[in-house]
Amino acid sequence: MRTSHLLSARRSLAGLATAAAALLALGAAPSAHAADPPLRDLAAAQGKVIGTAVTGSELTGTYGDITGREFGSLTPGNAMKWGSVEPTRGSFDWAEADQIVAFAQAHHQQVRGHTLVWHSQNPSWLTGGSWTPAQLSSLLQNHISTEVGRYQGKITGWDVVNEPFNEDGTYRSTLWYDGLGADYIASALTWAHAADPAAKLYINDYNVEGVNAKSTALYNLVKSLKARGVPIDGVGLQAHLVLGQVPATLQQNIQRFADLGVDVAITELDVRMQLPADSGKLAQQKADFKAVVGACAAVTRCAGVTVWGFTDSDSWVPSTFPGYGAATPYDESYQPKPAYYGIAEALGGSGGGGGGTAPAGGCSAAYTVTSQWNSGFTGQVRISCTGASLSSWKASWSFGAGQQLTQAWNAGCTQSGAAVTCSNISYNGTVPDGGSVTFGFNANWSGSNPVPAVSVG
Ligand code: XIL
Repeated sequence: MRTSHLLSARRSLAGLATAAAALLALGAAPSAHAADPPLRDLAAAQGKVIGTAVTGSELTGTYGDITGREFGSLTPGNAMKWGSVEPTRGSFDWAEADQIVAFAQAHHQQVRGHTLVWHSQNPSWLTGGSWTPAQLSSLLQNHISTEVGRYQGKITGWDVVNEPFNEDGTYRSTLWYDGLGADYIASALTWAHAADPAAKLYINDYNVEGVNAKSTALYNLVKSLKARGVPIDGVGLQAHLVLGQVPATLQQNIQRFADLGVDVAITELDVRMQLPADSGKLAQQKADFKAVVGACAAVTRCAGVTVWGFTDSDSWVPSTFPGYGAATPYDESYQPKPAYYGIAEALGGSGGGGGGTAPAGGCSAAYTVTSQWNSGFTGQVRISCTGASLSSWKASWSFGAGQQLTQAWNAGCTQSGAAVTCSNISYNGTVPDGGSVTFGFNANWSGSNPVPAVSVG
C-alpha cells in the first residue's frame, strides 16, 4: 500500500480537526464559503487530491491557515530544486524543504517532490563546470540518491524529470541530454526508484495539457519506458494556462495517458490574465479552473490538481509574464475569487459564491466539448438547478477564438459576432429543482478552441 492511501485513510479524523479549526478561525481568516467544506475534503470525497505550491517562509498566519485547511497536498515551489538544496558543492541547505515537509505532516498533507532533474535553477558550480559523461552521470545519481533518500517515505510523488521536451516533441538540449543522451531520463527514474521504492515517479512538462506534438512525444516516451520496465508511475501536466485557453482535448489527453497505465496529475495550475482583472475575466477564469479540475475529476487515474500558488500574492506570474497576473484562486488579500468556487463546483461542491456562471436562482450551466476533429467540434451544455427551478431558459456565451456555430439540437441558437445565445424549445423549457436539461451543437474552430464561461438567464 502506498503512502497516499494511508494518508487518505487518516483523513476523516484530520477532517474533523480541520473543520473545527475553520469554525474557530471564522473571525480571523476569511472562510472559503459557508456552505461547502474545504477543497481538500471535497476532493477526498471524489478520490482526488487538491494541492498547492508553497513558499516555506510564508507558512504562518492567514497563509498558513488557508494552506492547512484547504489543501491535501503541498509542493515546494522552489525549495527542493538542486540550486536551493546544494548551492555550493557538497554543502546542503535543507531548511525550507524540511519545513514544508514538517508542515505537511502536521496537517496530514501529502508532499509532491519537485524536482530532481531540470535544465533550470541548477547551482552555478554545476552548470559552470565542465564534466565528462561519467562525471555527469555520477553527479546526477548522487543528487537523486541524496535528496530522494533524505525524504524517503515522506513524498507521495516526485517530479523526477522536469520539462524534457521542446514544443515540436524533440528532446530539449540541456546539460543532461547533451551529456548523457535521452537515456538520462530512464537512469534518473531508476535511481529515484532505488532510493524510495514507494514514491510515485513522474515526468512533468508544460504545454502538454492538450493533444499536440509535445504531449505525443511524452506519450511515446512513457510507452517505451513502460515497455522497457523502467519505473515510471505518472505524468505531470503543469497547466500554466492563459485565460480562456483551456485546451478542448485536455480530458482526452489525460485519458490516453491513463490508458497507458500511468497516473496523471495536474501539477502547476494557474490561469493568467492581462491586468487589470475585471468581473468578466474573473468569470472566465472560474470557468477555466472548473474545466481543468472537472477534466481530472472525470478520469479515474487522474490523481489530483495542484495550483501553482493559491494566492495572487505568492504567484510567479507577474514577475515572469509582464502585464499578466491574478492567476490563482485567491486574491492578494486572501479572499477567495470566483476561480475558488470553480474548483469547488468541479469537485462536487455547491460553489455558488463568486459569480461566474451567473446562476439564475440556483441554476448554472456546464459546457463541455464532447468530441473534436480538425475543423469542427461537438459541444454540450447542461443546465442544472438546485434550490431553484426554471420554466424557460436562455444560455449565452462568447466564442472568443472565432468559433462558428453550424447546428444545434434541443435548443434554438443564434450567433452574432462572437456572442452565442441558445433558448429552450417548447418541450424543454422546464428545469425542475434538482433536475437538468441538456442541449448540443456543432461548430467550426481553428487555431484554438477554449472553453467559454456560460451564463444562464
Ligand atoms: C517557478 C517558481 O514558481 C518561481 O518562484 C521561480 O522563480 C521559477 O520557477 N515550471 C516549473 C516550476 O516546473 O518549477 C516553475 O516554478 C514554474 C514553471
